[in-house]
Amino acid sequence: MDRETVRKRLAASVPPVVSEDWPNIPVDWARGHLLGSDGREVVDMMSGFAVTNVGHNHPDVIEAARRQMEAVVHAPAGVMASEAQLLLAETLVDLLPGDLDMVWFGNSGAEAVDAALKVARMATGRFRFISFYGSFHGRTVGATSVTGSKAGHRRGYGPLLPGVSFLPYPNCFRCPWGEAEGDCSLECLSALREHMDRVAPPDEVAGVIVEPVQGEGGFIPAPRGFLAGLRKVCDEHGILLIFDEIQTGFGRTGRNFAAETFGVYPDLMCLAKALASGFPISVLAGSSGVLGDWPVGSHGTTFGGNSVSAAAAIATLRVLAGEDLAGRARRLGAALLDRLDGWPRRFSRVGDVRGLGLMVGIEYVDPVSGDPDGDLVSSLLESALERGFLFVAAGQSGQVLRLTPPLNIPEEVLESAVDLLEELTESRE
Ligand SMILES: Cc1ncc(COP(=O)(O)O)c(C=O)c1O
Repeated sequence: MDRETVRKRLAASVPPVVSEDWPNIPVDWARGHLLGSDGREVVDMMSGFAVTNVGHNHPDVIEAARRQMEAVVHAPAGVMASEAQLLLAETLVDLLPGDLDMVWFGNSGAEAVDAALKVARMATGRFRFISFYGSFHGRTVGATSVTGSKAGHRRGYGPLLPGVSFLPYPNCFRCPWGEAEGDCSLECLSALREHMDRVAPPDEVAGVIVEPVQGEGGFIPAPRGFLAGLRKVCDEHGILLIFDEIQTGFGRTGRNFAAETFGVYPDLMCLAKALASGFPISVLAGSSGVLGDWPVGSHGTTFGGNSVSAAAAIATLRVLAGEDLAGRARRLGAALLDRLDGWPRRFSRVGDVRGLGLMVGIEYVDPVSGDPDGDLVSSLLESALERGFLFVAAGQSGQVLRLTPPLNIPEEVLESAVDLLEELTESRE
């Protein structure tokens, strides 16, 4: 089946919100870093949106899921407790950093974010949230309300949740205060303090929600000082610090969780994506100080912590640990950034290269104005796909080409993906 046929079939039964997305390639099988259909193979350089950190259809994950399917598929939490769900909760509690010693299971990232917002309001008795420009937290109404990456994610859905303020995120390449990189005085934190003095009284703020490395917003790691500063502000005012590690978690950024790289630990952490290698599951992790008072009956979801997803998650965590994929992401990511380091000087259309672990972005710009150039990235993505490599974009206008390959991608495949990007970038000079 070619893409045109896929497009026509989708258009007949699926709304444009999906059918007109890019690229809708047919996929009949997936293994490791490869996707295939009709004898054609494509290298998945986006890991199904940072989900297949251990590769597609890892045999251990598939075997664990198959066994669990034969045992019990549906054991709804609260009414039934399957061994898979119990063991996953215990395994996560051992793995999670800081004071995070309780987990609640949902199905999707957005659902974990909604749970965080609800429990933060209940635990603090406050209603406000602080979020950041460029943030992406998901598509439910709650998660959309704290999402600030693109107006198009919010347009037409209002009024969204009241009490949410957005402040500048430390995007050092496009510093809102014009400070040079390396010369940062963390004005973003001053803006937060001023905002709390003028607009959002801190004793009304339930939580500050932040991605330690912004994903959809453009693959932007926060400076450590910013996250440490948020921790301090939250501690001063009894505000809950919520890390959205839905994209950064499970080895992607070179440790199990990005919080460990920064040495800053939240009160609540949202997780999903890579946890079960594609089986749907999400987690709201918190300290027992916060989640321990969540009253029975006040929240829940029918499929949360599904037993097959839980078994796949346990197997995924074993593969991640057994193959030290976080360590591999750290090593390969550092080598990748080393290789890309000279690109902004070498190519007039590359503005910035940045990332953490195997979450790396290349920001393309207009060579004269320096403005983001999403059209160029679209054309690069299409050319790469013609040559058998699937990348996707991030950033407000799609100006960032993202590299999030499976963490166990063979080194020579990663090399050839970057060779291709280099050739394509050169060709647009
Ligand atoms: C940081 C972050 N938070 C939340 C979400 C939403 O997750 P889901 O699509 O599973 O609801 C995403 C998805 O891309 C994400 O990257």
